[in-house]
Amino acid sequence: MTKAHIDSARTYIEERISIKPTIGLVLGSGLGVLADDIEHQTVISYEDIPHFPVSTVSGHEGQLVLGELEGQQVVAMQGRFHFYEGYSMQEVTFPIKVMKALGVESLFITNATGGVNTDFNPGDLMIIRDHINQTGTNPLIGPNDEEVGPRFPDMSEVYNRSYIKHVQQIAHEQNIPIQTGVYVGNSGPTYETPAEIKMLRFIGGDAVGMSTVPEAIVARHIGLEIVGISCITNMAAGILDEPLSHTDVIKTAAKAQTHFIQLIKQTLKTLPRL
Ligand code: HPA
Repeated sequence: MTKAHIDSARTYIEERISIKPTIGLVLGSGLGVLADDIEHQTVISYEDIPHFPVSTVSGHEGQLVLGELEGQQVVAMQGRFHFYEGYSMQEVTFPIKVMKALGVESLFITNATGGVNTDFNPGDLMIIRDHINQTGTNPLIGPNDEEVGPRFPDMSEVYNRSYIKHVQQIAHEQNIPIQTGVYVGNSGPTYETPAEIKMLRFIGGDAVGMSTVPEAIVARHIGLEIVGISCITNMAAGILDEPLSHTDVIKTAAKAQTHFIQLIKQTLKTLPRL
């Protein structure tokens, strides 16, 4: 995945749109419906974009939706790429680099997660305050282009603090119950064991999922300002003594959709300039 690959993907997309997106949205499992509200939309299938991988999981569509949302010019990923699908970390994060090349400055990353914090409930939304990379690898391993970002990027504020305050404020104004916490990124595809969940709670995790961390690392490396929103679709393993299933994850995400959509739209409408 070189600069030439990014450029050819960017050119392909730019030839099909008349907007210049400044905000990127990565829509997680069961949350892709937000893209339906994008106005004057252009839809581009991942499989048509040069060098884009293709999504394989049910519940994930595989397309970019570009247009206007709440007065902002946006590019949304309806469906994302996961490390557990067999893609390399470079493939998983390629679309983030393409978004940056298109002009994106701020990135909303959303996901479905298991609640590790026992104060949480399925259907809750959580603003990501920080993350723990438990994937065992890192998308920045390999040669570094200093023009893109530093060799040893600072990760003390992956999720922009002004944005966190803004989303908290919007949730308050809109009467949307909201949690704020630490997202743990695992590789998947297995859900965790109860013992692993105990460990994740012990090390400071509030929610656990199988995405987001690689995207956030790359986005921060290239200078994007990040908002992270998780939908707690289930309590993590061992908490409720019931098995976890992808079907339940999708169902609960669908139930949380109304609040999710309202929160993101209102946040976009009044997003502070940084
Ligand atoms: N664990 C990991 N990933 C998830 C979960 C979970 O419990 N729920 C949704 N994505």
